[in-house]
Amino acid sequence: MKAWLLNDFGLDNLVLGEAPTPQPKAGELLVKVGAVSLNYRDKAIVDGIYEPHLVPKPLIPVSDAAGTVVAIGDGVTRFKAGDRVNSHLYSRWLDGAPGPDESLYSFGSPLPGGLAEYMIIHEQSAVRAPDAMSDEEAATLPIAALTAWYSLVDFGQLQPGQSVLVQGTGGVSIFTIQIAAALGARVIATSSRDDNLEAVKKLGASDVVNYRVTPQWEQEVLRLTGGKGVDLLLDVAGGNGVNQSIAATKAGGRIAQIGFLTGQETQLNLMPLIFRQTTLRGIAVAPRSSFDRMNVFLNDKKIRPVIDHVYTFEEAREAYQHLARGPFGKVVIKVS
Ligand SMILES: NC(=O)c1ccc[n+]([C@@H]2O[C@H](COP(=O)([O-])OP(=O)(O)OC[C@H]3O[C@@H](n4cnc5c(N)ncnc54)[C@H](OP(=O)(O)O)[C@@H]3O)[C@@H](O)[C@H]2O)c1
Repeated sequence: MKAWLLNDFGLDNLVLGEAPTPQPKAGELLVKVGAVSLNYRDKAIVDGIYEPHLVPKPLIPVSDAAGTVVAIGDGVTRFKAGDRVNSHLYSRWLDGAPGPDESLYSFGSPLPGGLAEYMIIHEQSAVRAPDAMSDEEAATLPIAALTAWYSLVDFGQLQPGQSVLVQGTGGVSIFTIQIAAALGARVIATSSRDDNLEAVKKLGASDVVNYRVTPQWEQEVLRLTGGKGVDLLLDVAGGNGVNQSIAATKAGGRIAQIGFLTGQETQLNLMPLIFRQTTLRGIAVAPRSSFDRMNVFLNDKKIRPVIDHVYTFEEAREAYQHLARGPFGKVVIKVS
């Protein structure tokens, strides 16, 4: 089959080549990939800054895929040929609390990903792709939408009328705005660009802050919330900005620590964390059961993914470059 292969770290080492077409073993599905979407994780893997010790070489990259089952292994009962499915990043995390080594069984490193004509997904980890969505749309869900959903609902317990702050306008954040608005929450969004801030208002953000123009954005969030801070904050920026997130969150509030766009390390000032009694929780996507519940919600609320651009299979490297520039929503690659 045709496959993109990462032979070594660096985008120049991502090349279009050939790989053996995998055969499904007992319990597995062979999926003809329709589309994949890129996440920051995929770029970080290529750059060699995301668990580099786990990356096999060569690697078929990209975790998030949607496609059609074309063959099944012995004993498969949940799916049949012709069904449309999504991959689920942590292929062994099905429900409840995570195990200690979920990242060892994640697609797009170390397991082969979806940037190829075919991929193997175990029937237990596959998720039925929403009927209302094309493969290009469904491919955006496994990490970006699910991380937003899990942070808002499973961790955040967000209630109508509560407030949530979302940083930037990338894949996770746009889904966060759409889902939080559909849950009846007040959404405060930040971005470095005024045109993006205008666009997120149309998706349901009620208040916006330009974090370049207002580097002390937490002060503006406090002003907008009457000095209280938001109920829930989804932090994708990481770095030392986590201290600002704590300041922008209400006493007793919750922060979902999702990302590390500005750095994987932080100098955390413990005293505000202690005095404000903030819950700071690391998030690593979600179990499959949460994905199943999310798809019902997306269908009911008629939420459609915001796709910045769809690239052809041959244009995969351009898609990575687009992600590096900062997309509005999702960057997708059509595979077949
Ligand atoms: N833990 C998990 O389960 C999980 C899941 C998904 C993603 N993540 C992580 O979350 C982060 C975001 O992922 P993504 O896929 O959504 O990224 P993405 O699609 O590449 O989004 C990047 C966007 O983030 C915004 N941004 C950049 N620097 C910022 C800053 N200092 N403050 C606020 N916003 C900033 C920019 O928006 P503007 O152009 O509007 O400023 C940029 O367009 C990454 O670190 C990723 O690895 C973690």
